[in-house]
Amino acid sequence: MGRTSLQWPIFLTSLLSCTTNQAGLTVSPSSSQLFEDESVSLSCEEDDSSAGWTLRRNTTEGRMSQCGAGWGKPAGSSCKISHMVPLDSGVYWCESREGATSNTISITVTGGPVILQSPVLPVMEGHDVTLHCKPKTPPSDLPAAFYKDGSLISAEPTGHMTIHHVSKSDEGLYKCNISRHGESPPSWISVTGKPTTTAPPPVSAAPPPASAPLQLVFRLVCHLVVFCPYCISTVLMVSLCRRRPTENDLPVSMAMTPPTQAEQGLDDDFDDVITAVTTEHHF
Ligand SMILES: *[C@@H]1O[C@H](CO)[C@@H](O)[C@H](O)[C@H]1NC(C)=O
Ligand SMILES: *[C@@H]1O[C@H](CO)[C@@H](O)[C@H](O)[C@H]1NC(C)=O
Repeated sequence: MGRTSLQWPIFLTSLLSCTTNQAGLTVSPSSSQLFEDESVSLSCEEDDSSAGWTLRRNTTEGRMSQCGAGWGKPAGSSCKISHMVPLDSGVYWCESREGATSNTISITVTGGPVILQSPVLPVMEGHDVTLHCKPKTPPSDLPAAFYKDGSLISAEPTGHMTIHHVSKSDEGLYKCNISRHGESPPSWISVTGKPTTTAPPPVSAAPPPASAPLQLVFRLVCHLVVFCPYCISTVLMVSLCRRRPTENDLPVSMAMTPPTQAEQGLDDDFDDVITAVTTEHHF
């Protein structure tokens, strides 16, 4: 017992956290476009704070530059930028000390009179998405025209447009326009596939996506990645139990198992696991 038995849980915990150690970047206010002088807070929502996530960005001014290096004010795993300027436009992401990266968020800051408020994160297929064409000066619900990939798609009396049940074909470059105010910068809206567990797509939707087998493979790999550490830890615990047969009164079934069998096949190991686990619980 003693030192080694303490080291195992630590080792196993770090093995497990390898698979879950990731961060998601969120932005508040949640808009892909901002007016000059607005402030914004970007947060690396992390599973493991010890991974040391920092916010980085690519802009026309600099590449891979870190929050605090001439822009933004770091606060833990968040970064606050007061008084955004058009040069703050760019791609933002979180990066851990080991180089793992989060999702990216694209932010456009305009000195112009109109912004298009659109989702910063990809929209899930089948969900609704609302766009708001917002002028810098109130009132904020003026009639607006919305464009996708350069073509007019809708004129809305109150400046709000909802796309129902988005599909991959709704992906594109959107902008809007308010009479006597002006035009917003363009923003890309991306659509991600549904998780395979949700209901089938509506009848009007396109034929089943060709990516279905790919998603299955992806899920399978995910399950394996999550399952493997448990297998490894179980095997390790069994071999640990076998290595200290003299310290405790061992159950008969384990005492009879010669240590040399540890090198044998997985099938044997799993039988032993079940025996070992059930007998240990009777202590
Ligand atoms: C940022 O810029 C670097 C260097 O040009 C490039 O390698 C990297 O892919 C960029 N990252 C993003 C998220 O655009
Ligand atoms: C869009 O912009 C054009 C010119 O920039 C303008 O003539 C038109 O009235 C605008 N449309 C709307 C609905 O704001």
